[in-house]
Amino acid sequence: MGQLEYNLPMPEIIEPFRIKSVEPIRFTTREQRDKILKDAKYNPFLIDGDDVLIDLLTDSGTSAMSAAQWGAIMTGDESYAGSRSFKRFEAKVREIFGFKHVIPTHQGRAAEKILMAIVGGAGKIIPNNHHFDTTRANVEFTGAQALDLVIDEGKDPDNLHPFKGNLDVAKLQRLLETGNGGLGKGQIPIGMITVTNNTGGGQPVSMANVKEVSATLRKAGIPFIIDSCRFAENAWFIKQREPGYADKTPKEIAQEMFSYADGATMSLKKDGFGNIGGFLALNDDELAEQARNLLILTEGFPTYGGLAGRDLEALAQGLDEVLDEHYLEDRTATIRYLANKLTEKGVKIVQPPGGHAVYIDAKRFYPQIPATQFPAQVFVNELYLEGGIRGVEIGSVMFGKCVDGVEHGADRELVRLALPRRVYTQAHVNYVADVISEMYDKREEAIGLKIVKQAPFLRHFTAELAPV
Ligand code: F0G
Repeated sequence: MGQLEYNLPMPEIIEPFRIKSVEPIRFTTREQRDKILKDAKYNPFLIDGDDVLIDLLTDSGTSAMSAAQWGAIMTGDESYAGSRSFKRFEAKVREIFGFKHVIPTHQGRAAEKILMAIVGGAGKIIPNNHHFDTTRANVEFTGAQALDLVIDEGKDPDNLHPFKGNLDVAKLQRLLETGNGGLGKGQIPIGMITVTNNTGGGQPVSMANVKEVSATLRKAGIPFIIDSCRFAENAWFIKQREPGYADKTPKEIAQEMFSYADGATMSLKKDGFGNIGGFLALNDDELAEQARNLLILTEGFPTYGGLAGRDLEALAQGLDEVLDEHYLEDRTATIRYLANKLTEKGVKIVQPPGGHAVYIDAKRFYPQIPATQFPAQVFVNELYLEGGIRGVEIGSVMFGKCVDGVEHGADRELVRLALPRRVYTQAHVNYVADVISEMYDKREEAIGLKIVKQAPFLRHFTAELAPV
C-alpha cells in the first residue's frame, strides 16, 4: 500500500464553532447605498440595520448565542422571587468574580447608575484608567467629576506598550495625597479601572497594574471597582503578555484579577455572550443593601433585576463559554488579522490592536480633510458606500463642539470597527479589509462634510450632515 503524503498546510487558528442557525445578510448595490446614505443624512446611525451588509458598529449585544445558551433559555425559571435561574446566575458570577453580592441589571449602565447614585455627588472625584461614555455620564449626572488617569503610553496610537490600558499609579497617588486642585483628599468615594480600556482602543490592563491600583486604593481605605465588560479578553492578554501567567487558565486569571477588587460593574452584552444583561457585584454588605433598594425602584426584584429568568440562564452559560481558550484565541486573532491586513496596506491604526475592535486613524487616512470637516465621519460614510459596512466615528462629530456656529475639532479622529462575537467568518473579515484597501487607493478623492443639523448634546447619534 502506497504511502500518501498530504502536505496541506493546517490553519493554525480556525473559527472554534460550527454554525447551526444562520441569518441572511442583505446585499445592496452602490446606487442603492448612495441613496440610503443621502436619506440617512450622511450619518450611519440613521441607516436601518437591514440595509447593512456587515455591521461593525458595536460588539455590544450583537453576539451569537450558542446552542447551549438557547437550550438554557427554555429552562428559565420565571418566578418573581427566588428564581432557580437567579441561583444559577449568582453561583456562576460568584465562581468567576468572587464577590459576595450579585445584583442583576438589564445592562452595564444600569449597574453604573445605581452605583454612582450611592457613591457620587457634587465635589466627589471618581478616577478610572478611562471612563467609558456611559460611566462618565452617570458620574457627571450626580455632580461628581470623572477623572481619566491612563498611562501616557495609552494615549499614543503608535506606542507598542503591551498594557496600554494601565492606570498611572503615580498620578493616582498624587490625587490621593494632594487632590485635584485641592479637591482630591477625602473626596474619592471609589476608584475604578476598566478592562479592557474601550475608550483607549480596547487595550488591556496588566495584573501588576490591577494589583498596584488595588493596594494604593486600599491603603487609603477606598473601595476598588472594576468595570469588567471585557474581562475575558483582558485575561487572555494577561496570559499572552504578562510573565508568570502563560500556564494559567483565563478563568484563574480572571479570578485573581477580581480578588484584588471590592466590586465590579458588568455589561454582559460583551463578555457574557448576551444580547442583554449586566450586574453590579459588591463585597460590602451596606453598599449592597443600598444598591438593592435602588434596584427595586427601577430594575426589579433582587432575584431578577432587569432581566427575565431565561436571560439569567443564557448569561450563566455564556460566562462559561467566554472563558474558553479556543474562543479567546480566535477572537483576538481575528482582530489582529484585520489589523495586520490594514497595516500591510499602509493604513494607520491604534497599535497594538486591542481585544474587540480595530481603531483606524482617519486623520492620517484623509490628511487633506481638517477635523472641522470630520475625516472619521467621511471614513464611515465611504465604508458604507463602498462596501455596505458600518463602523462608528470616534472623532469630531462625537467629541467636537459647535460654539456660536463655529466648529471646534476633537483631539482625535478614529473609526472603530468592533467585531460582534462569533458572528462573522474570516471571509467577512477579508471582505472588510479589501473594501478599506480600495478606499485607501482612492483616499485622495475624498472630500469633507459639514453638519447641517445637530442636537445640543450627544449630537453624533442624530446629527445631519452634507458634503462640503
Ligand atoms: N463600560 C464599557 C467599557 C463599555 O464599553 C460599555 C458599553 C459600558 C460600560 C456600558 O454597558 O451598554 O451594557 O450599558 N459599550 C458599548 C460599546 C455600548 O459599543 O462600546 P451597556
